[in-house]
Amino acid sequence: MARSWHTGRVAVPPDYDDDPERFRLGSRITERHLSAPSLYEHLATRLTGRSTIVDIGCGEGALAAALAAATPAALPLLARVSPGPAEALGSAPRRLVGVDASATMLGAHPRPVVQAEAARLPFAADVFDAALAINMLYHLDDPMPALREARRVLAPGGLFVASAIARDDSPELAAVWRREPTPFDAEEAQDLVASVFGTVEVERWDAALITLPDRDAVRDYLIARQVPRPAAVDAAAQITTPLPVTKRGALIFACR
Ligand SMILES: C[S@@+](CC[C@H](N)C(=O)[O-])C[C@H]1O[C@@H](n2cnc3c(N)ncnc32)[C@H](O)[C@@H]1O
Repeated sequence: MARSWHTGRVAVPPDYDDDPERFRLGSRITERHLSAPSLYEHLATRLTGRSTIVDIGCGEGALAAALAAATPAALPLLARVSPGPAEALGSAPRRLVGVDASATMLGAHPRPVVQAEAARLPFAADVFDAALAINMLYHLDDPMPALREARRVLAPGGLFVASAIARDDSPELAAVWRREPTPFDAEEAQDLVASVFGTVEVERWDAALITLPDRDAVRDYLIARQVPRPAAVDAAAQITTPLPVTKRGALIFACR
């Protein structure tokens, strides 16, 4: 693990080619036990009217799937009251390009995709209506070059969105597991994004959004967070279930 030279925090090591099942397990656990609309469904509504989108660190396409599933009925009321704009927005040809460092992740993502580093995007300047970095900047020792790259490829008025997890996420598991601080946690994400984009808008979440029904689910939740399996089994054995888990984090929105 590389310790970030400027923050002393440790970037989460990417394992998406070596152990893609770890990431998939986490996605399944969230999908099964989440009691609210997913982050991606929410983002799909925020991307209304944005037709060229780059999803940086796109994984296997959770955002692409939510965008494809979004219908005019799911659009905000303002877009629905007037049939003209609603129709136009609902059917606006959206073109999402998935960018990821992992060939394994891109193999499952709808085309078009580009294998690239977030800090070196292979696109001209000023081309996208929206650029997103969802649950990925904590993998970077220094998120600043990636934030500057996202801004570079956005057209004037283009929307940037990043998500970040809070250091005190999942406090109900604190006795057996704690998230290591990373270079892009919800506590600093707002300031980091603002230092590149200027004004930002922040949406925070802090609620028991997931309930893990049994110890197998607790074990899998921990494995998905890179806890080695034997330690996850031991830890899960100490937990009383069902366990409501408080999710804490933030979405940061900024315009170029
Ligand atoms: C936790 S996954 C999130 C995937 C997707 N955004 C989602 O929310 O489902 C993090 C993703 O970032 C990618 N990633 C990690 N470091 C990267 C980098 N330096 N450049 C581009 N992608 C990277 C990983 O390969 C992985 O697909």
